[in-house]
Amino acid sequence: MDIIVRESYDELSKYSAKLIARLVKSKPDCVLGLATGSTPIGTYKELVRMHKEEGLDFSQVKTFNLDEYYGIGIDLDKPYELDQSYARFMHEELFKHINIKKENIHIPDGLTKKPDEYCKWYEEEIKKAGGIDLQLLGIGGDGHWAFNEPGSSLASRTRIQALAQQTLDDNYESFYKKAGIDRANMPHFAITMGIGTILEAKNIIMLANGIKKADVVAKCIEGPVTSQITASAIQLHSGGITVVLDKDAASKLNGLHHYMHVEKLKQEYGF
Ligand code: GLP
Repeated sequence: MDIIVRESYDELSKYSAKLIARLVKSKPDCVLGLATGSTPIGTYKELVRMHKEEGLDFSQVKTFNLDEYYGIGIDLDKPYELDQSYARFMHEELFKHINIKKENIHIPDGLTKKPDEYCKWYEEEIKKAGGIDLQLLGIGGDGHWAFNEPGSSLASRTRIQALAQQTLDDNYESFYKKAGIDRANMPHFAITMGIGTILEAKNIIMLANGIKKADVVAKCIEGPVTSQITASAIQLHSGGITVVLDKDAASKLNGLHHYMHVEKLKQEYGF
């Protein structure tokens, strides 16, 4: 596991965007797994800049998003209301600014009437695309990946999941409140890739910033692997793992000096 610590959110975002861009350049038809939340916004901004200023080409890239609230969603062909769907978020933060093809975008359909069948289909689509080359992840305040709340099996697959109280509180503060949406009208369920689904991605980048994430990041990376902190499944992943943190989010790691030493050595020796 590569643990990279950067001074600021801006540097963290540039670092993760560079890793994604490197893959897009070396494998133009790569499959990206994408995340929502406030953490990846800077990474998407930097990718948009690279597209506009450096011609980073997304024309063959396929994407699969981790999750979507159940009960909301948008049809990108039609004008839409300002809702808090992850489909809208992805459209606003990334897709409308780059040359990705609409048919190559996959976001769980929060409006599906047949969620079980739909979730199976989503998994099949990932397989048909050849699997996810690089999955971008944040981490929830309760240690979740996507919407795999505490108690989710570490072998779980794409499914409907009830949202934990802490997640509802966090997401209300970060998004719903600002949009003037009443707390009672927030969705309480989501469609989410499972931890088992995420672990099949060939490579993983996990991002976290801010002091609020410091405790949960330390538990995830240095604590026991547990379904109570589903992101701790990162310790089981067999591919390339890069955790990119700002110095606040890294501040409670016992092994911080060791991780920084390893990064320096790798840079010096060109690994
Ligand atoms: C939501 C998303 C997660 C995300 C988390 C953290 O719960 N489903 O994928 O990692 O929020 O969000 P933020 O980056 O705003 O802290």
